[in-house]
Amino acid sequence: MSTNNAALRVEGVNISFGGLRALNDVYLEIGTNEVVGLIGPNGAGKTTLFNALCGLVQPDSGKFFLNGGEQNFPQTHQLVDLGIARTLQGVGLFGDLTVLENVMVGAQHLATSGLISAALGRSAKDEKEIRRKSLTALERVYAIGLANRRADTLSYPDTKRVAIARALVSEPKILMLDEPAGGLGAQDIEWMNLLIRNLSATMSVLLVEHHMDVVMSVCSKLYVLNFGEVIASGNAETVRRDPAVMAAYLGTGA
Ligand SMILES: Nc1ncnc2c1ncn2[C@@H]1O[C@H](COP(=O)(O)OP(=O)(O)OP(=O)(O)O)[C@@H](O)[C@H]1O
Ligand SMILES: [Mg+2]
Repeated sequence: MSTNNAALRVEGVNISFGGLRALNDVYLEIGTNEVVGLIGPNGAGKTTLFNALCGLVQPDSGKFFLNGGEQNFPQTHQLVDLGIARTLQGVGLFGDLTVLENVMVGAQHLATSGLISAALGRSAKDEKEIRRKSLTALERVYAIGLANRRADTLSYPDTKRVAIARALVSEPKILMLDEPAGGLGAQDIEWMNLLIRNLSATMSVLLVEHHMDVVMSVCSKLYVLNFGEVIASGNAETVRRDPAVMAAYLGTGA
């Protein structure tokens, strides 16, 4: 694995909230088409790092590289052009719209960022293109059969799939998912892992997850955060056996 040409890499990330050091000298690297897990106990700093990678928080210091090139940490409006997409903790579909409409709403960003021209006064041609991309995204999460259902009639696991479809519509090279398996049962978690593995054929994936077991099978590399610091990284076996990781998880009963 080449360090310098990683799809995404950060180094020395520091973020404080008032007196609280939420991230301390954090590094992370996601290879092309790699599925990387970011795990750690409650309050470890996972969401803070995730937010820094997708522009919701600006770090106090740190370096950000895309495909080996250093640049500023992204702003949210730059994500589509940078090939980054994310879902957030909590789903947030519009209940009274259809599944397809929900995904198409996600595609509005494409228009404003120039991937699809003349967004706001949308022409029939734009509309058709957004619809086509949205249907493709639904196909990729095996939810094409749900396209015309009202979102508020979906099961909880199906809403999770649709939320991912909404992120896929910009055709990202890096997909970031905050707790995609949160609230799912064992069978749906397995299904989600399979979906993520399939997606990694065409993109890199970063998974934020509280529970280690959920990501063990799907991630080729894990980073473990505890109190804002990376206390271990490596493949599932290495991380699982690491004494500092065991202590961190035992310490919180997670
Ligand atoms: N906006 C904020 N203002 C102040 N403190 C914050 C803010 N966001 C996070 N924190 C604090 O920073 C630390 C890291 O929080 P973060 O949400 O990143 O943890 P996490 O690993 O995502 O936890 P969880 O597993 O519960 O989602 C915590 O102590 C949290 O209370
Ligand atoms: Mg979190």
